[in-house]
Amino acid sequence: MDKLVIHGPTKLKGEVTISGAKNAAVAILPATLLIDGVCKIENLPNISDVKMYCKILQELGVKIKWITENEVEIDSRNINCTQAPLDMTSKFRASYYLLGALLGRCGTAEVGLPGGCNLGARPIDQHIKAFEALGAKVEVAQGKITAKVKKLVGNSIYMDIVSVGATINAILASVLAEGTTTIDNAAKEPHIVDVANFLNTMGADIRGAGTDVIKINGVKKLHGKASYSVVPDQIEAGTFMLAAVASRGNILIKNCIPEHLDCITAKILEIGGSVEDYGDSIRVSMNKRPNKAIVKTLPYPGYPTDLQPQIGVVLAIAEGTSTIHESIWESRFQYSFELNKMGAKITAQGKTAIFEGVKDLNGAPVYATDLRAGAALLIAGIIADGETQLYNIEHIDRGYEDIEEKFRSLGANIERVTEPDEK
Ligand code: EPU
Repeated sequence: MDKLVIHGPTKLKGEVTISGAKNAAVAILPATLLIDGVCKIENLPNISDVKMYCKILQELGVKIKWITENEVEIDSRNINCTQAPLDMTSKFRASYYLLGALLGRCGTAEVGLPGGCNLGARPIDQHIKAFEALGAKVEVAQGKITAKVKKLVGNSIYMDIVSVGATINAILASVLAEGTTTIDNAAKEPHIVDVANFLNTMGADIRGAGTDVIKINGVKKLHGKASYSVVPDQIEAGTFMLAAVASRGNILIKNCIPEHLDCITAKILEIGGSVEDYGDSIRVSMNKRPNKAIVKTLPYPGYPTDLQPQIGVVLAIAEGTSTIHESIWESRFQYSFELNKMGAKITAQGKTAIFEGVKDLNGAPVYATDLRAGAALLIAGIIADGETQLYNIEHIDRGYEDIEEKFRSLGANIERVTEPDEK
């Protein structure tokens, strides 16, 4: 088991380049199942979730050729199986996209039920509602979901909840359906637009992605024969923006889309930081203790839940008392117990946490409870006095490419240590 050993405090300074978006990549990879041809995907983040997805696709008969560690050629012409390996998919949340993609391409799909996870209950009723609206029969039994249809036919789908996953799954299932599908109350995250752009590049007819009404005119076939580059990761960029603020540093964040970061920029300005926009990069700096703030997580373009723990670190050391309301996930404050071990004063109850700002954090042994909690605790270790040992970092490796290398290049003192497994 690896752990990160961090010696702080460090004011982060320098330049960092953002990788392709994890949450776009884990939707675009299964979307390649819809293509009766060969396509190339560039700017894929080199993270364990992407490697896992590629393994699952190979099990289904997809041929994958790595060109570089961020570029891959995918040949989905000869899919020979519609049953995704249960042991892999039931542990892997984004495996639910296999349902929409396999249903769309083959009319049948079997995927392990994505269990609850560290963020609390993660229902998939809206995904099922979308498949049923298109004519599929869906069964949930014995730890798996089975979906079957003779012919998918376009329909109107109204999402009762704004859901990233259900919106993407509804798109995947309707791209090759007969007729037109309309998704109302769709999610608008940048990775939804990216998945639609990818599919349109391969011959789909999807309009309105990025708004709350998406229209999909079914086409007969997706041709492949094209390259697509994954959008820069909004959440990785936001993580470095907040790391600059927490460490009172100055970071030039390259290869990002500043418009996707508006909600984070607004909060950083509110708490006293500075953000300069250069079109495809931004500079974030901070030269004093942050001001207190109230943060409420919301679907895009609101403040993202996936940057909630990272701003939690900033508010833990802010002047005065701050509040975070988490409105997406029921258990996203587990990191607060770890931050309190480092001297923070956070009281989390249900979906609200109160942060009584302290001047400094102190190094301590802490545990990443999920991906974004891990990123937040890494930032906390960088700004804390003394040594922090960060455990369970496999969560971080799922979603951040070269994270410790990137922080090291900004001046952080981080070492990855492999500890022998206990016998
Ligand atoms: N929901 C339902 N029913 C559904 C689907 C969702 O009630 O059928 C609820 C959820 O319980 C939640 C809300 O709707 O309260 C929003 O969930 P959503 O479906 O949008 O989340 P998701 O698609 O499962 C994606 C990201 C998450 C990110 C959320 C919210 C991927 C692979 N995952 O999850 O990313 O937090 O959107 O933006 O895209 C992460 O990257 O760390 C991460 C957890």
